[in-house]
Amino acid sequence: MDLLIRKMVSEDLELVKSIDKLAFPNPWPENAYNYEFDQNPNARLWVVEVQQGLEKAVIGFTVVWVVIDEAHIGTIAIHPDFQNRGIGKKFLLFIFQELVDENICKIFLEVRQSNRSAISLYKKFGFVIDGERKHYYRDNGEPALLMSCIIKRKEYYMELDAGLTIQNSKQKREVIS
Ligand SMILES: CC(C)(COP(=O)(O)OP(=O)(O)OC[C@H]1O[C@@H](n2cnc3c(N)ncnc32)[C@H](O)[C@@H]1OP(=O)(O)O)[C@@H](O)C(=O)NCCC(=O)NCCS
Repeated sequence: MDLLIRKMVSEDLELVKSIDKLAFPNPWPENAYNYEFDQNPNARLWVVEVQQGLEKAVIGFTVVWVVIDEAHIGTIAIHPDFQNRGIGKKFLLFIFQELVDENICKIFLEVRQSNRSAISLYKKFGFVIDGERKHYYRDNGEPALLMSCIIKRKEYYMELDAGLTIQNSKQKREVIS
C-alpha cells in the first residue's frame, strides 16, 4: 500500500465529505468544505491517498487554518477502514512539516474529551491540554479539550518520519479509556 499526501483538489471534495460523515458523529455542513476550499485564503487543505495495485483512493483529509504564525487544526480524519495503521501519525507529521515551512510557531485544536485515540495521537506529537470548553459539541453536550503544541525544528520531524511505518492490514486494538 503506497501513501501519498497532497493538496486537496476540487475533485476530492465529494469523497472528503463522505469520509467526514463516516468518521464523525457531527460532520461539517457540506458547504463548509466548499467555502474552505474556494474562499478561505487562510485554509490549508490536504488529503491522504492510498494506492493498492492500480486502485487509488482518498482515505483521509485535514483542514488547517493559518493566521500569521499560528495554526489551528479545524478537522482531521482517516477513513474508518484505514484507521489504526499509523496513517494518522504520518499525516500529522506531514502537517507539522508543512507548517514548519510556513514559519508557524504554535498549533491549536479542539478534541472531544472522549476521543481517546485522537488525544493519544496528539500527545505523541507534544500537544498539551490547556483547558476545556464545556458543552462544546451540540450532539451530546460533551466538552472539548483545548490542546496546543509548540512547533519544533524541522530536523526533529525529519527524524520522527524516518521511524514511522504504515501497517498494510488493520491491527485489532481496543480504544484505551
Ligand atoms: C484520530 C485519527 C485521525 C487517528 O488516525 P489513525 O490513522 O487511526 O491513527 P494512527 O494509526 O496513526 O495512530 C496514531 C496514534 O493514535 C492513537 N490511537 C490510534 N488508534 C487508537 C486506538 N484504537 N486506541 C488507542 N489509541 C489509538 C495511538 O496513540 C497511536 O499511536 P501508536 O500506534 O504509536 O500507539 C483517526 O482515528 C480518525 O480519523 N478518527 C475519527 C475522526 C477524529 O476523531 N478526528 C480527530 C478530531 S479532533
